[in-house]
Amino acid sequence: MVKASAPGKCILFGEHAVVYGEPALACSINQRMTIELEHEHMIEAWRLDGRKFNPKKHPHIEYIRNKLHSSTGNPLHIRIRGTIPKASGLGSSAALSVALCGALQQLHNGSANKAQASLLAHHAEAAAQGGRASPMDTATSSYGGFIVLSDTIEEHLDFIETRTMDVDGSTRQWHLHTFEAAVPEGTALVVGNTGTHGSTSAMVNHVAELMRKNSSRKVELETIGAIARRGIQAFREGDMEAVGQAMTENHIVLRSLGVSSPELERLIRAAAPSSLGVKMTGAGGGGCMIALTTNPEETMGAIEMEGGRAFISTFNEPGLRIEDAV
Ligand code: MEV
Repeated sequence: MVKASAPGKCILFGEHAVVYGEPALACSINQRMTIELEHEHMIEAWRLDGRKFNPKKHPHIEYIRNKLHSSTGNPLHIRIRGTIPKASGLGSSAALSVALCGALQQLHNGSANKAQASLLAHHAEAAAQGGRASPMDTATSSYGGFIVLSDTIEEHLDFIETRTMDVDGSTRQWHLHTFEAAVPEGTALVVGNTGTHGSTSAMVNHVAELMRKNSSRKVELETIGAIARRGIQAFREGDMEAVGQAMTENHIVLRSLGVSSPELERLIRAAAPSSLGVKMTGAGGGGCMIALTTNPEETMGAIEMEGGRAFISTFNEPGLRIEDAV
């Protein structure tokens, strides 16, 4: 039996603007997905949580299985456990893909490789989403901690790798970085889930349409990029007041782009008085918001009073991890 886990993520700065080449920052959260692989006697076909595995329903699992487990290998029983809410912008499917890569690597090679898991899980996500996926979710889930994605190599950050992928006939390139953040003890993130689901492609298309109709609105995307750079610098310096302020500013620009929702705004308004900064996270139109706070219990209570589901996350949650291998 092999057991591997990987964390979800939230975007701290730069969603939507990252699609146009601006930098974005994501961090791992302490909600994880866990994959258990078991060889079972007498099973002739792959199983998923006690049922026959259906590759059509789980294209990313199918992709990874084909890459890491030869067709002549014995069928396995895959069990999925996890605390990351689905389809809420917290990277649950990327975490599942990364954990599965790690578990299969452990089974076949005796150890897990984060760089390979990050690459393969990215390709699996892209294949499952019709060719489009940024490496943000899968890299954050594999490496853990802070990940900066940008179209240029960002000075002052620790460069990890350059990723290229063919998307719609042209080659897309991303530079991945990380950095050490000096987060003071007692500062936490509270994630608030509206329970509603926005469509990432609808939100991305909405922003594209705005830009097409009025190209002067590109300034808003550049503003998000500038805020993201300032927020990243503040994180590195441990200036949480400045981080919080940048988060709130980032949210105001996202709201003006029309990607927030009444439910997100309600939770954000509730969390703001007890927080250093608040914003939606991910594509928007629903999903989750985040608050940077030194009063996590109070902030969580305020979000729940407004009907949101909330949890507290600390920073620097480790990435891909082997939990058990016997
Ligand atoms: C979605 O989590 C983040 C977006 O920036 C889309 C993307 O980066 O592919 C909205």
